[in-house]
Amino acid sequence: MSIAYYKRFRMEIDLDRLPPLGALPEGCRWVAWHPAVLSSHAFVKFRCFRMELDARIFPCLGDQHGCAQLMRDISTRRGFVPEATWLIARGNDYLGTVQGVIDRTGVGMIQNLGVIPEARNQGIGTSLLLQSLYGFYEAGLSLGMLEVTADNIGAVRLYRRLGFRRARTLYKAVNEV
Ligand SMILES: CC(C)(COP(=O)(O)OP(=O)(O)OC[C@H]1O[C@@H](n2cnc3c(N)ncnc32)[C@H](O)[C@@H]1OP(=O)(O)O)[C@@H](O)C(=O)NCCC(=O)NCCS
Repeated sequence: MSIAYYKRFRMEIDLDRLPPLGALPEGCRWVAWHPAVLSSHAFVKFRCFRMELDARIFPCLGDQHGCAQLMRDISTRRGFVPEATWLIARGNDYLGTVQGVIDRTGVGMIQNLGVIPEARNQGIGTSLLLQSLYGFYEAGLSLGMLEVTADNIGAVRLYRRLGFRRARTLYKAVNEV
């Protein structure tokens, strides 16, 4: 067993200067948070992350039961923000998920933004992220934040494009076999 260190960025954005939320791609619709959609968030999260680098850093993301437990933890946490927690659906399928929580300092923390591989590069990730940030803003918050693995080039580029700036660099220690 060895320990690997993964470089991560904490990035932040002012919520009173968000770009406008555009229309969803054709056929897509918003699904607001309700306890009845917890398992849908969990399953789409699993589909989004199972093949990704973040599933090595946070093994629960690569496991269906782990994703279900994570969703239960997030949605029962004290700072959970339903208005910042969304799914995007097309037909009977869910394409992406995002959740929001307020941390102890009153900052809106984006959790686990994910879009299934087949639905990427259509603007769905951008829409989910903005919808969640507007949810924080409507809940009265002024700062949004997230953490991203530095090697997740596409995600970092998306966040920069929307106006996120790097606030801190962290190293996440992971036991690897
Ligand atoms: C990161 C992630 C959420 C992005 O989702 P996405 O739906 O592909 O994001 P978008 O489509 O909004 O943006 C991705 C690119 O598509 C482009 N795009 C947006 N709308 C488009 C359209 N209609 N046609 C073509 N391209 C489009 C965007 O310009 C963007 O390119 P750029 O960032 O190089 O400028 C997704 O790749 C993912 O789920 N990855 C795995 C999980 C993960 O790592 N999550 C982040 C954790 S911090």
